[in-house]
Amino acid sequence: MSDLLSLQDVTAGDVNRLLRSAAQLKRAPRLRRHLAGKMLALVFQKPSTRTRVSFEVGIYQLGGQATYLGPDDIQLGVREEVRDVARTLSRYVDGIVMRTFKQSQVEEMAQFASVPVINGLSDQEHPCQALSDLFTMQERFRKLSGLTVGYIGDGNNVLNSLLEGCSLLGAHVQFAAPNGYQPSSKTVRFAMLQGQRSRARVRRVTEPEAAARGADVLYTDVWTSMGQEGEQRARRQAFRGFQLNERLLRLAKPRCVVMHCLPAHRGEEI
Ligand code: NVA
Repeated sequence: MSDLLSLQDVTAGDVNRLLRSAAQLKRAPRLRRHLAGKMLALVFQKPSTRTRVSFEVGIYQLGGQATYLGPDDIQLGVREEVRDVARTLSRYVDGIVMRTFKQSQVEEMAQFASVPVINGLSDQEHPCQALSDLFTMQERFRKLSGLTVGYIGDGNNVLNSLLEGCSLLGAHVQFAAPNGYQPSSKTVRFAMLQGQRSRARVRRVTEPEAAARGADVLYTDVWTSMGQEGEQRARRQAFRGFQLNERLLRLAKPRCVVMHCLPAHRGEEI
């Protein structure tokens, strides 16, 4: 079963294989038919621009088709239990991409579906984002091993997956997040353990300046993620000083690139 729920479930070899085949597909001048006749269900409980479009375009270019099921179509856990959706969809489609509020719901979907389930963002993980980010970094710098990624901002789903991906492939991560907004401790432990094998240094720092210093890549994400709208005011307060701006960019390496998974809130986190 080839679910993709978290980068904690994959190996460096798996990620390298994915990056290699992504590079091959990107170079290919014509449509490939690897997924001819296959149907993908996109079960999205939260809004999406890039994830939805990239899956829809991607499966089309590989010869298959997607059906989008938004929050009004399936109200997971309200109108219908996750396990029933999983069993039903498995009889129609060949794969499920899921965007949801709880990681446990993606895991439950995978447990009860008989087709592969891909996590298209949960409260804890955004593995497809991290894979695309690794792909971009590799394109830009030709290698991942030994790069330094400085992350400034919320210790959220995007940072969790980025920590996992970078540590698997040997990229150092130095991250600064305010107290109370740290990435999951399980993820940090995983990243540190992977880092021992891949030689990636994973460092939690207090000051945003320390995260930016000497970085090849500077990364940030919104202060308030989807589903946290009620915390917006408190978050604006807590994240003051954690803005990725020109002052921090000057501390990074001269050829540093700035990355943001988007949507961006200019004047806040960037
Ligand atoms: N951390 C953001 C990422 C959006 C792609 C969120 O979960 O809303």
